[in-house]
Amino acid sequence: MLESRIIQYQESRNQHLSLLKDYTNQLTELCMMDKISNNNNVTWFNGYVSREDREKLHGHKGALLWFTGLSASGKSTIAHLVEKGLHRRGCSTYVFDGDNVRHGLCSDLTFRREDREENIRRIGEMVKLFVDAGMIVLTAFISPYRKDRREVRSLLKDGQFLEIYVECPSEVCAERDQKGIYAKAKAGVIKEFTGISAPYEAPENPALVIRSYEEDAYEAAKRVIKLIEQCGLIK
Ligand code: ADX
Repeated sequence: MLESRIIQYQESRNQHLSLLKDYTNQLTELCMMDKISNNNNVTWFNGYVSREDREKLHGHKGALLWFTGLSASGKSTIAHLVEKGLHRRGCSTYVFDGDNVRHGLCSDLTFRREDREENIRRIGEMVKLFVDAGMIVLTAFISPYRKDRREVRSLLKDGQFLEIYVECPSEVCAERDQKGIYAKAKAGVIKEFTGISAPYEAPENPALVIRSYEEDAYEAAKRVIKLIEQCGLIK
C-alpha cells in the first residue's frame, strides 16, 4: 500500500517537474524573442514602487492634459494657469511647452512633417514617464496631426489622457502674435507654418474645447480644473 503510494507520488512529481521544465524553456524563449525583437538587448525593469504607490503619495492620479491648437492660440497661457491652480491645491505638476522643448530635447528637429512627428513621439515617451511618476503633466504643443496625437494617447491607459483643443482662427492668432512669426510666415520667410502654409487637423473628439477667441483664459483654466475633478483625477 505504502509502496504504491510512493510510486504514485514519484510519478506525479516527475510529471510536474517535466511541466515546470517546459514552462521554463518557453519563458526563456519568450524573453529571448523579446530581447531580439527590441534588437538592443534591453529589458524593462519594474521598480519596487508602483505608479499607484506614487499617486497615493501625491494625493492624486497621474495624468496628461494635452493642449493642442495653433501657435499663439493660448495653449501655454491656459496650461500655465491650470498648473498654478493645481499647484495651489497641492498637486504635483509640470508644463511642457513647444518653444521650450525645441530648445533642448528637440532642438535638432525642423517643422517638416516627419520632424513634427518625431517631436511629438519624443514628447509622448517623455511625458509617459512623468505620468508613471504620478504627476499631472500639461503639454502645449501645436501637434497638428491627429495620427501623432493618437499615438501619444495609445501610450497611456484609459482616462490618463485628456485632449484639450484650444480653438482660435489663424487671423486672431496672427493679431495676438508677439513674436512676429505669422507676418514672417505670410511673407514666406518661414515655410510650412501651421495654419498658413501647413495643415492643422482639429481633434474630432476632444475632452474639452476652449474657444480662446471668445473665452477668458482664467475662465478656461477653471473649466479645465473642473474637468480634471469630474474625471476623478483630483479630489
Ligand atoms: S509642433 O507642430 O511640432 O507641435 P511645436 O509646438 O513643437 O510645434 O512648436 C511650435 C512653436 O514653434 C510655435 O509656437 C512657433 O513659435 C514656432 N515655430 C517656428 N516655425 C514654425 C512653423 N513652421 N510652424 C509652426 N510653428 C513654428
